[in-house]
This record gives sequence, structure tokens and C-alpha cells, in this order.
Amino acid sequence: MIQFLLNRELRTERDLDPNLTVLEYLRRHLGRTGTKEGCASGDCGACTVVLGELEVRDGAERVRYRTLNSCLTFVAALHGRQLISVEDLSHQGRLHSVQSAMVDCHGSQCGFCTPGFVMSLFALQKNVDGYDRERTLEALAGNLCRCTGYRPIMEAAEQACGRRESDAFDAFEAETVTRLKEILPRESTALGAGANQCHLPMTVADLADLYAAHPDARLLAGGTDLALEVTQFHRPLPLMIYVGHVADMKGITTTDTHLEIGSATSLTDCYAALSAEYPDFGELLHRFASQQIRNQGTLGGNIGNASPIGDAPPLLIALGSEIVLRKGKDTRTLPLEDYFVDYRVTARQSGEFIERIRVPRPAGNGAFRAYKISKRLDDDISAVCAAFNLTLESGTVTDARIAFGGMAAIPKRAASCEAALIGQPFSEACVESACAALANDFTPLTDFRASREYRLLTAQNLLRKCFIELTTPDLATRVTAYA
Ligand SMILES: Cc1cc2nc3c(=O)[nH]c(=O)nc-3n(C[C@H](O)[C@H](O)[C@H](O)COP(=O)(O)OP(=O)(O)OC[C@H]3O[C@@H](n4cnc5c(N)ncnc54)[C@H](O)[C@@H]3O)c2cc1C
Ligand code: FES
Ligand code: FES
Repeated sequence: MIQFLLNRELRTERDLDPNLTVLEYLRRHLGRTGTKEGCASGDCGACTVVLGELEVRDGAERVRYRTLNSCLTFVAALHGRQLISVEDLSHQGRLHSVQSAMVDCHGSQCGFCTPGFVMSLFALQKNVDGYDRERTLEALAGNLCRCTGYRPIMEAAEQACGRRESDAFDAFEAETVTRLKEILPRESTALGAGANQCHLPMTVADLADLYAAHPDARLLAGGTDLALEVTQFHRPLPLMIYVGHVADMKGITTTDTHLEIGSATSLTDCYAALSAEYPDFGELLHRFASQQIRNQGTLGGNIGNASPIGDAPPLLIALGSEIVLRKGKDTRTLPLEDYFVDYRVTARQSGEFIERIRVPRPAGNGAFRAYKISKRLDDDISAVCAAFNLTLESGTVTDARIAFGGMAAIPKRAASCEAALIGQPFSEACVESACAALANDFTPLTDFRASREYRLLTAQNLLRKCFIELTTPDLATRVTAYA
């Protein structure tokens, strides 16, 4: 049974198929057809809705509003939260200020994308204090419009955020907080219809027991990879375990030496912590998919998916990160680089899951650079992702951890390249020999993202770029990683 607020109305659902997406639930079960399906794969933003969740902000209990793609979100994620779709924005016959701004600025033509834009603008307005062009671009990067063009929509954002009016969500916030507290999930539950079931454990111990008992179940975190199996390949998942309510696996603890990141922590929440320690990591997460996907997707899911082109693993490997795996009551810690064995094959045992990720904090004379190469700047998967973690003492490379995504069947360290650098003066000659060594480390594939020749040359050029940045005074302190 799941319980949630549909805007302000309490809903209890017992018999839903857990393979049902929030988009299908809204359109087919509730007849709310304002939310559109464009791509059903997280790319267009037409299906954007907003989830409200309790948070403590400035010492007060507040509602945090975040966008997500309803086409990739299974209904289990609604449990204990507030679902807001485009139908909820107008109040007492009046358009919401973001809707009025879209009208005033001529931000809509055919209108198919408009509900998605409106929901992204609504969440943006709730999360910024005044108009901010960069934050607007970030909020809208996951919404595509094929006829209006983006200038009028940006103007609508400027109007809606620059002259923010209080709305019904502000007026009812205290009531919503109270009602969300009443339905805050406290006990493990399950949702199912027919043969398809989803368990929703609340503690890591419950999760461990469930997964040990059902090792064939699929772990569901944000679902931004997993849901595609249902929406794109039409393969229903008979048994899922949703980890999004396991409090012990959400959040980040900072110790003297490490960031300890719960595997179910959203990429958005990882952003602040990782970019404070490693600005390049933040820049990469900034370019990871779209805000909707980052609000939903988790760091554990990015590792668990074991994709050769996942963005976080090469960076985490270069930083010497470890993962804590748990099976039943037993835990073991593994260097992340040893987790990836072969294409989509990992060291994870049956019934074992990733509990947390341990990322070392910067120490000594380390320099960390990371680059993502993709065809589009925003919302695109990497052709090549590179991470360089170099220790330099008196101009000599004393340690090097270099890892790439998109260059092999798994995210992988460049052992020959590292060996060519370590113990050498950090010079152009040494970098050139390390570039040559990269050809021994990788035999990349040709696919629709890039040819093998392009990938190898790009990897070599990224090492050259890293060298230039670290040895050119004006560039050595730069914080942007756009390649
Ligand atoms: C439009 C779009 C754009 C994207 N862009 C990018 C991008 O730029 N860069 C990138 O790297 N990825 C990208 N992705 C892929 C995806 O968003 C990420 O891999 C994300 O981090 C997955 O996290 P999730 O929580 O949604 O995982 P889920 O889909 O819930 O799970 C993914 C896999 O991990 C397993 N899993 C989840 N949690 C655990 C756990 N605790 N222990 C063990 N296994 C677990 C699941 O069983 C599943 O097999 C994109 C996806 C979409 C749809
Ligand atoms: S329908 Fe395109 S992102 Fe969901
Ligand atoms: S108004 Fe037609 S796609 Fe945006």
C-alpha cells in the first residue's frame, strides 16, 4: 500500500502494478492528461511533474519541490510525497504566475512541450530568489521545444522568477507539511497487482533481509536506467525492491578523510558535496543528464548500472573511491575499480547491494581534472569521459590515477599511461610518451557516439589538455571542466 498527496488530496493505492509509471498513472488512472508523453525515455521533459518532500530548511520544516520525468518514475516513488502535475497550478480559476508568464511572453505554440516547461518553471520559481539566467538554463536543459524557440520561454522565466508572486502552494504550505508528516513512511510496505510486486523497505536491515530472501528481485533506486526496461523494451519487472526510502542509504557524511555517500543519495544532492571538494566533479554532475534526471537518479544507480559510459565511475575510480557492499548482516569494502569485471558484469554477489560509496577527500599535492566529451553540452551521454588524479612534487609526478569511461567495456584505469607518468618530470615529453601508452591501455569501439580513432585521439588530447591546464598559471586554478 502506498499513500501520497495528489496536490492536497490524500490518496491510498493498494493494487497498482509497480511497473506503472507516474505518467501512466496520471493519464490513464486519473484522467489527468495535461502531462504529456514525448519520448518515454527521459529526453524531452514533456512529462515533467514536481514532487514535494519534507525538508528542514533554516530550522523550519518546509516542502522541497523538485522536478522529475514522470515517464521514468514508477509509482512506488510517490509513497509519502506530494505529487503536483500541471492541473494543480491554477487556483480558483486563475492561472499560476508561471503560466501567465508563458502567455504574456508567447512561450507556447503547438503547446505539446508547454506543461513540462511550466512544471520546470514552477519548481525553479520555488527554488530561486529572483531571476538567475544560469539557474534557468540548468532548470530548462531537460525540456525540449520544437516550435516556439527558447527566447520567449527564457523571457517567461525572467518574468515569473523576477516578479515572484506568492501562490496557493505558499498559502497551504503549513497544511501540506502537517499532512506530509502524517503520511511519512515509517514501516516497510509493499505494492502489487497480480504477479508484479514491489517491496518498499525503510531500513537497510530490512532491505538486506528482503534482498537475501529474493536475490532475483531488481533493486529500484531513481529508476532512470531501470524504468527503460519497461518503457522502451516492454519487459515488465515482476519483483522490485525500492531503495528510495531507506534512510540509512540517503545522505552524505563528511569525515576527516572521506565523503561517505549513501548509495540512494540523489545526484542533485551529491552535486553540492562533491563540487565543494572537487570542482571538476561538480562540473561533470552539472552536465550529467538533466535536472529532472539528477533529482531522481542516484550515485548508487550510476554504479549499479555498470554502464561503460556512466559518468561518475571513472571520476570515482581516479579518486580511489571504495564501495561498501552488504549482503544480509555482512559488509565488505571494495575498491570501486575492482567492482567492474566485464561488460555489465560486476563483483556483486547474489543478494548483495551497494550500501555506500566512500570518496577520499583531497590531500597533499593532488590535482584533479575531469572532462566529459559528448555531442551536446547538456543532457547527453559521454562518448569519452576522462579523470586525472595526479600528485606532483617539485615538478615530478609522484602518483597518478587515471581512469576513462567510453574507452573499454568497463570504466577502467589507464595502467600504462599512469606508469609512463609516475617518477617523471611533468613535462611535454613525458606527457607525449603517456599519450602513446594510452594506445596500449585501450582498444575502444566504434559506435554511433564516436569512432575508435576519435575516442583514442580524444583521450590523448584530454591528457594534453590536463597538462596545459596544470602547467599554465592562469589555467591552473580554473574551475570549469567544459572540454
Ligand atoms: C535521459 C537520460 C540521460 C542520462 N544521462 C546520463 C549521463 O549524462 N551520464 C550518466 O552517467 N548516466 C546518464 N543516464 C543514466 C542514469 O540516469 C544514471 O545511470 C543514474 O545514475 C541511474 O541512477 P538511478 O538511481 O536512476 O538507477 P536505477 O535505474 O534505479 O538503477 C540502475 C541499476 O542499478 C541497480 N541499483 C540501483 N541501486 C543499487 C544499489 N544500491 N546496489 C546495487 N545495485 C543498484 C539497479 O538494480 C539497476 O540495475 C541518463 C539516463 C537518461 C534516461
Ligand atoms: S516523455 Fe520525454 S522525458 Fe518523459
Ligand atoms: S510549443 Fe510546440 S514543441 Fe514547444
